[in-house]
Amino acid sequence: MAFNKIWCTVALGLLLPFSYAHTDFFTSIGHMTDLINTEKDLVVSLKDYIKAEESKLEQIKKWAEKLDQLTDTATKDPEGFLGHPVNAFKLMKRLNTEWGELESLVLKDMSDGFISNMTIQRQFFPNDEDQTGAAKALLRLQDTYNLDTDTLSRGNLPDPEHQRANGNMKYFEYIMAKEKEANKSSTDSEDQMEKETEVKKKDYLPERRKYEMLCRGEGLKMTPRRQKRLFCRYYDGNRNPRYILGPVKQEDEWDKPRIVRFLDIISDEEIETVKELAKPRLSRATVHDPETGKLTTAHYRVSKSAWLSGYESPVVSRINTRIQDLTGLDVSTAEELQVANYGVGGQYEPHFDFARKDEPDAFKELGTGNRIATWLFYMSDVSAGGATVFPEVGASVWPKKGTAVFWYNLFPSGEGDYSTRHAACPVLVGNKWVSNKWLHERGQEFRRPCTLSELE
Ligand code: OGA
Ligand code: FE2
Repeated sequence: MAFNKIWCTVALGLLLPFSYAHTDFFTSIGHMTDLINTEKDLVVSLKDYIKAEESKLEQIKKWAEKLDQLTDTATKDPEGFLGHPVNAFKLMKRLNTEWGELESLVLKDMSDGFISNMTIQRQFFPNDEDQTGAAKALLRLQDTYNLDTDTLSRGNLPDPEHQRANGNMKYFEYIMAKEKEANKSSTDSEDQMEKETEVKKKDYLPERRKYEMLCRGEGLKMTPRRQKRLFCRYYDGNRNPRYILGPVKQEDEWDKPRIVRFLDIISDEEIETVKELAKPRLSRATVHDPETGKLTTAHYRVSKSAWLSGYESPVVSRINTRIQDLTGLDVSTAEELQVANYGVGGQYEPHFDFARKDEPDAFKELGTGNRIATWLFYMSDVSAGGATVFPEVGASVWPKKGTAVFWYNLFPSGEGDYSTRHAACPVLVGNKWVSNKWLHERGQEFRRPCTLSELE
């Protein structure tokens, strides 16, 4: 099963060095911006070539016109013409040297500069695989966001605000339907039953459909009663000395599983540093193919990622400490900070971050137990698409630059929480940057997880 492979991928991704000759451009916008610059350079070089070719033709034209006049006069009265010694000399000179020079000019290849530029740049061009990848990404977007071919080909993409408003609309419709239901007399019970089966039907939708609906901002399963119990607050990390005077903004995104969002939790400067550190190391995220035992790329995970250690930059180290302070979890047993960049069509289909019972060796090499919790920074806004969705429970979390979300993958017993199954929706317009920290079980034995206990 596809998603069974995911964790081992991520684990193996840690241990095996990436070495790819080709860069898979379509998976990340970061690399595609280089291509735009390459193309711009090539246009400049092509224009230079056109100029050189035009000036060559201009020279040839002038010569032809001059000779046209000259031969006209000469042929009218050849003897009279040659009677002039200078004309005789000039004829000798033209035929002996000047026509030869003109021949060289006509033969001269002005395209050298352009062609050599082209040859150099061509090594970095996308290949057939990239082109197919980009085409598949378009199909994926069309499916997920219900776009008709016409809309897509004209570039009339849905307005993201409008898209989200759609989700709100659904929510209001739900509230209004509920209120109506409450006001109705018992004679309407048939109607009511119909409605209930409608709602039930949604529960049995295949995961793929739920995932796509959530990505479009539809099918959110929050009820008003539950929503009333979602709050926002200033949080000091359970009286952590570093946050008592300057607590951080925390919002409940979801109740079960509990997902909280921290606001203004990573600065624009920190984001820039993290991106700059990661950029040269970004490579296509791979998954472990159980049949061949090799790392391969998969359509269900289309992004580029890199790992950053706290030792290489004070910024990364500071970020790690922040996660430790605000989650109350030891980060020394956590994995390194993973930075991921999703280009248009980039996605990560539904998966668990933790290893299931049938995968006991998942994080064996790490020796730090299972992934107890996930911390996910949003390092960019996304113009449209790119939500993080939880199809089991009907939750969508929208990327917002500078914020982070956090949830537990395991119950206190160590059992996996299957309701945390989640996905990164395909990016429709824009470019999505995230970074995440997977915290592990070891080191947490004597800690009281502070962030998520309040709602229980
Ligand atoms: C992941 C993941 C979600 C996202 O990398 O494991 O689930 O929104 N990412 O990028
Ligand atoms: Fe994940």
